This record gives sequence, structure tokens and C-alpha cells, in this order.
Amino acid sequence: MNACIRAVVRTALYHNIEVTGFIRGYEGLIDDNHIQMSRESVSGIIQRGGTILKTARSARFMTKEGLQKAVDTISKHKVDGMIIIGGDGSFRGAIELNKHINVPLVGCAGTIDNDLVGTDFTIGYDTAINTVVEAVDRIRDTAESHDRVFVVEVMGRDAGLIALRSAIACGADALMVPEIKGDLDQLISKMKGWRSSKSSKIIIVAEGDEHGGAYKIADLIKKNFPEFDMRVSILGHIQRGGNPTCMERVNASIVGYNAVQALIAGRKNEMVGIINKEVVFTPFEKAVKHIEKLNPDLEKLIEVLST
Ligand code: F6P
Repeated sequence: MNACIRAVVRTALYHNIEVTGFIRGYEGLIDDNHIQMSRESVSGIIQRGGTILKTARSARFMTKEGLQKAVDTISKHKVDGMIIIGGDGSFRGAIELNKHINVPLVGCAGTIDNDLVGTDFTIGYDTAINTVVEAVDRIRDTAESHDRVFVVEVMGRDAGLIALRSAIACGADALMVPEIKGDLDQLISKMKGWRSSKSSKIIIVAEGDEHGGAYKIADLIKKNFPEFDMRVSILGHIQRGGNPTCMERVNASIVGYNAVQALIAGRKNEMVGIINKEVVFTPFEKAVKHIEKLNPDLEKLIEVLST
């Protein structure tokens, strides 16, 4: 997100447009907690994880009073255009805000979950999956040395996209995600046919899987296969931080730059994304539509390559 903030600030200042950063997102709008952004204020941040503007899941913004305070702050500052960096919660907030103000809003797709319609990669996703891959590579050393089955839980409260891509990259043996129902039965029958010459097994589970996470899944597997030496590893918040990958820094810069250009061109209520290397604009209403199906070709890939 820092790479995106830097791009927004530097592009706007390049066009002699003043930039105000609201601290902790919608919370900052409610409390009128803001800072004036200069070229220097975004120096040395492109390589840093997190966001210098901080962020929050704002419950107050979902109340009538909170929303009204945010609206008041926007009119007090005579804001001409606003850029929102975030995921589906942020854009649902933007849709709501738009009903009460007459200020163009443009979004930059940012969430480690990659669950927005209208972009190949959201800001945060590539760094998160690379962290998962590095962690699972390390776990595999123990798995192989001890002939163990590891159930590794990755983030994704509602979406299995972190799990899907990292499972391919880690050479995982199975995948459990909220988008695929009945995957536990499939897994159990698949495990019956697992090659004995393969000493270690890695199962990647998205935290939002309907069976309730890695520990519950490991228990259910153990009931069917008491002979397996099993371990569980929950990767947690290490996936949400760290220095962004090169791809991430470049994409976030492109998206931030284009968000400012979009406002200048008079666009509004759209999210900026990148599809097949092209910058694409998607209305907020469409961007937040939940991705219900994973790419079946990638699911098949895991099945075929893990045999
Ligand atoms: O934004 C969604 C997400 O990335 C989920 O995948 C994860 O469960 C959650 O954020 C973690 O957020 P928090 O730190 O607020 O619990």
C-alpha cells in the first residue's frame, strides 16, 4: 500500500494537486484526523510493508452518525476527489459514501486476499503468497525428514485464492478452500490412494474453509488415518507484512498513478486494476462481487501434479 500511496502523492503533486492523507481510513474521515502530504512524506516507503497512513476496520463508519461525520469532514476540506486504497469492505464503504456526497471516488485494489473482480492481482497478494511459499518450503524440510503430513493454514476468511496459488507453487498434495464444498470427502478418498513412495504430504487450507480451520481438519483426517504422523501449522499474520515483491511495487505504482489520472479525467466510482497488463476500470458495485468459483484449470493442476 505504501508504494501506492507514494504513487498517488507524487502523481498528484506533479500535477500541482494538493494531497491530504486521512489516518486510519474511514476512522480518519470521521475524526478529521489527517496529514498534508508532500513529496518528502512518501520518501523511502516504496520498500516498506503496511501503510504509513495506518488502517482500521471502522465499525463507526457503518453507523449513521459515523457516516455523517465523514461526510462533514469531506465538505469541510472542500475535497475535489478522493482515492481509496482497500478491499471489498473499503469499496462497500465507498458505495455508501457516494450516496451522500458529490465528490468523485476512485479505488485502488488492495487486499492480500485477491478477491476483487476487475484485476488480476490486488496490492498485497503477491507478497503474501511469496511469504506462504517461503514458509511452506521450510515446513517441507521437517515434513520430508520425519515422513509427516502437514496441514498448513493460510489466510483467506472468505476466499481461497491465497491457498490456491500457493498450493501450486509449493507442490502441495491437496487444497481445502471455502469455494469448494465437499472437499473433505474428496481429500479422504484421495488420501487412500496416496503413493507410499511419497514420504511427506502438504495440505493447504484456507482459514475460511467450511470445516473450521486446520486443527479441525487435521482431527478429521486423523480419525480416518490414525497411522499418519500429523502436524498443523497456522501461518497467520506473517502473511500480512514484509517488504513487497518487485511485481507488487510496480503494480501498486501503476495503479496509484492511474487513480490520479482517472480523477483528472473525470472518472468516478470505479476501481483501478490491471488485467493482462492493461489498466482496467471496474465500477465499485462490480468489483466487490464475491468470487464464487476458483479457476477450475488451476484446481485440476494441483490434482494432476500432486499424483
Ligand atoms: O482482509 C481479509 C484478511 O486478509 C483475511 O484473509 C484475514 O482473515 C484477515 O484479513 C485478517 O485481518 P485481521 O488482522 O483484522 O484479523
